[in-house]
Amino acid sequence: MAANHELQFTPEGKLKHFLSIEGLSRPLLTEILDTAESFASVSEQQVKKFPLLRGKTIINLFFENSTRTKTSFDLAATRLSADVLNMDISTSATSKGETLLDTIRNLEAMHVDMFVVRHSISGAAHFIARHVAPYISVINAGDGNHAHPTQAMLDMFTIRRVKQDFSQLRVAIVGDILHSRVARSQIQALNTLGVPEIHVIAPKTLLPAKVETLGVKVFNDMAAGIQGADVIIMLRLQKERMTGAFLPTESEYFKCYGLTKAKLKSAKSDAIVMHPGPINRGVEISSGVADGLSSVILKQVTYGVAVRMAIMSMTMQAAGA
Ligand code: CP
Repeated sequence: MAANHELQFTPEGKLKHFLSIEGLSRPLLTEILDTAESFASVSEQQVKKFPLLRGKTIINLFFENSTRTKTSFDLAATRLSADVLNMDISTSATSKGETLLDTIRNLEAMHVDMFVVRHSISGAAHFIARHVAPYISVINAGDGNHAHPTQAMLDMFTIRRVKQDFSQLRVAIVGDILHSRVARSQIQALNTLGVPEIHVIAPKTLLPAKVETLGVKVFNDMAAGIQGADVIIMLRLQKERMTGAFLPTESEYFKCYGLTKAKLKSAKSDAIVMHPGPINRGVEISSGVADGLSSVILKQVTYGVAVRMAIMSMTMQAAGA
């Protein structure tokens, strides 16, 4: 059986599924960013469409809530001229006990070309990719606490747009690393793209065991961790994945790990502040920072459409090749 990261490629080495950053090379990540660059201007035009996926059918299968990712995939597919179906899971037959595989088999029987999958269980997108017909692409829109690779790529796109070059950067990731699929994918992408210094900053209770083996430097003190940073990525406390008491109180957390204008002064003067969203004001970030001049949080959302257009068009071309 192919390893999880090998599963993403056709026998010719083309990217057919986009399931995780793991196993993807720097040239491939750069190709995604370059392709996204060519789509980024489209969203600003009056006619926002390319005919690349005309005649293709894409199903958004979101078993977990989403605002940004679902809408972004929907817009990306529409701008590539695909037909898009957003499944309403709450009214689907999964609520009557149908298995995930049976749901997929039935949708596949209607000649679908791509599934975009978000699921609370880690590995769900890989599982689907292993079982779909060879002409179908699967894109992981977030699985459990495992991976959120398109979020990581839109974050890389945002960093490259503002900072141009990855090779001199100090990037600080702050918050709930333990439960964060976004942080895992970001760390893999930052390492692959050659970022020399990646800091993770969190209380001990919100750090995975042996996190330093991911190629990061670990800090429990926020001021020390963001000192001289070029990029600060703030993370939400992912309460939906917490199974115990990880924190004293939210206000205590904000005092130690919330990003305020005062704390931001430890970073470089031209540092950018990022957040995958949804943001919790007054928990991990103050409104002054979230809405301030250093914030590129809404730019991330804007660029997400172009990045997803790039990934969808590349994987679909490989599947059809
Ligand atoms: N960043 C992100 O995944 O946001 P949503 O949960 O709104 O899709």
